[in-house]
Amino acid sequence: KKESKKRPTLITDVNSVEGNICLVDELKNIFEVAIASAYPDLKDAPVVITVSGNNPKFGDYQCNSAMAISQMLKAKNVKTNPREVANNILNKTPTSPFIERMEVAGAGYLNIYINKMMAEHILNCILRFGVKPPPVKKEKIVVDFSSPNIAKEMHVGHLRSTIIGESICRILEFLGHDVLRINHLGDWGTQFGMLIAHLQDKFPDFKTVSPPISDLQAFYKESKKRFDEDEEFKKRAYACVVELQSHHPDYIAAWKLICDVSLQEFQKIYDRLDISIINRGESFYQDRMDVVVQELKDAGLLEEDEGRLIMWGNPDTHEGIPLTIVKSGGGYTYDTSDMATIKQRVQEEKGDRFIYVTDAGQATHFIIIEACARRAGILKDHQKVEHVGFGVVLGEDKKKFKTRSGDTIKLIELLDEGLKRALDKLVEKGRDKVLTPEELKQAQEAIAYGCIKYADLSHNRINDYVFSFDKMLDDKGNTAVYLLYALTRIRSIARTAQISQEQLAAEIEKSGFKFGHDAEWKLGKVLIRFPEIILKVSSDLYIHSLCEYLYEICSAFTEFYDKCYCVEKDKEGKIVKIIYERLMLCEVTARIMEKCLDILGIKTVSRM
Ligand code: ARG
Repeated sequence: KKESKKRPTLITDVNSVEGNICLVDELKNIFEVAIASAYPDLKDAPVVITVSGNNPKFGDYQCNSAMAISQMLKAKNVKTNPREVANNILNKTPTSPFIERMEVAGAGYLNIYINKMMAEHILNCILRFGVKPPPVKKEKIVVDFSSPNIAKEMHVGHLRSTIIGESICRILEFLGHDVLRINHLGDWGTQFGMLIAHLQDKFPDFKTVSPPISDLQAFYKESKKRFDEDEEFKKRAYACVVELQSHHPDYIAAWKLICDVSLQEFQKIYDRLDISIINRGESFYQDRMDVVVQELKDAGLLEEDEGRLIMWGNPDTHEGIPLTIVKSGGGYTYDTSDMATIKQRVQEEKGDRFIYVTDAGQATHFIIIEACARRAGILKDHQKVEHVGFGVVLGEDKKKFKTRSGDTIKLIELLDEGLKRALDKLVEKGRDKVLTPEELKQAQEAIAYGCIKYADLSHNRINDYVFSFDKMLDDKGNTAVYLLYALTRIRSIARTAQISQEQLAAEIEKSGFKFGHDAEWKLGKVLIRFPEIILKVSSDLYIHSLCEYLYEICSAFTEFYDKCYCVEKDKEGKIVKIIYERLMLCEVTARIMEKCLDILGIKTVSRM
């Protein structure tokens, strides 16, 4: 009856390995087998594999299972210690083309040294076939991001959602998933009552002449002011909502007009930041809300509470707070629309994974939505809901990010300022005299938008982060400018050596890549971790790990380039020797960096 777990099949043939292999996963498999054979009676022994970091004394990777296993054995009254356990595991480790050697160190660490030939093989695969994603089971994934509200301002929080969401989509698409990018616009609700009432007053002929309301925010503020101060207006606003919800054509026309003005403004931001997203706001779910409410009622899942209809995630514990499905006046809420939304994404889109990118403040909202959707049988066990929460954007004074006069920051103005500052930087360095006007413009945009994105993505998203142009444009820090300069430098090496891509490809075919100097080996070991990083980020959706990885590549590359020349020149500057292996290493480095930058949504330039 004892359920025996199937042991993983280990890779024994180097030639069956491709450039997209996740090394750490294979090591996990190897040590799962080793531990099972050393301790066949021990159930659920943990297989812990970590990267050893910079100190070569600790090997390249470590298996740190011995401590825990020793504890487990002691609990069964077996006398042992971690070092003994580590030695036992070592002795049972099957030979693998991935492992050069192993040793037990310190309190019971098992240091693993990676096989150089395997690493060479992996890098050769990347050189021949390009940077390929690690294989995964393909899923349909709905990513709900950006999602600003019509007529209200699109603020820096929405900018974070936009940048993080775009990057999440890119990494999932790279892995081959079917990603649906949804802009869940706040385009339906009671605010439209006062907007339409105000529109009717100010621009009575709005149906024939398009009113000049490009500054919808100001328009929103005006109507809100009237709504708060003028009883008569308030009544009319409510009447407008009723007309709108009963789909009166004039009101639908007014509503559409207001949405279009907003959408045009949002689109300007998306175009500049190269964001692709499908607009499908709350209004899309109007009829579906009626349906889901009826279904929840019929299933007896709603409770009355002071005239409202509410739903608990767990009716027995009444843990947390309930959703308000129907308001006392009969209206629907944000909760109702998100129940209709998740149902649509499960049943019509046939999604497997549902990702929502919003500020951390909405975390509980999505926990309850998930709980209620599971309770209602909408979500099945294998389907996952993930809230990708993020912190607040702060100004350099560590307070909420505002303009000097205390207004909320307009995103377009923020992007403009980024452009201006990026250009200043380039001019300061005299680049305007070297680059063509076209190149200068490309560099300016790549730097400005790249820096804004990277500053956001390189911080752990759950924390608040301080928005500082000075910091994000510093070419010595962990910034997009630094990375972009590093990449152009790497790309220029082969160019100075006057080696074309074709010549390099021929060399790769002829002799392939081999490690020489120790600094090459160090860089190579960082590069072959790419699939591991991609898998990690695509599962926990913490993009900053990818930024850290990029920075690590850059540091390892700098060390390599300091110590190893790729091209030897004589006194006159004539090329006397070219070390092709090193140019190949430059090539893999550049390709992996380009892929990472692409996932971050950062454009690269050939010159800057
Ligand atoms: N419009 C909302 C806001 O500005 C975000 C919507 C997020 N998506 C969702 N399905 N609730 O906060």
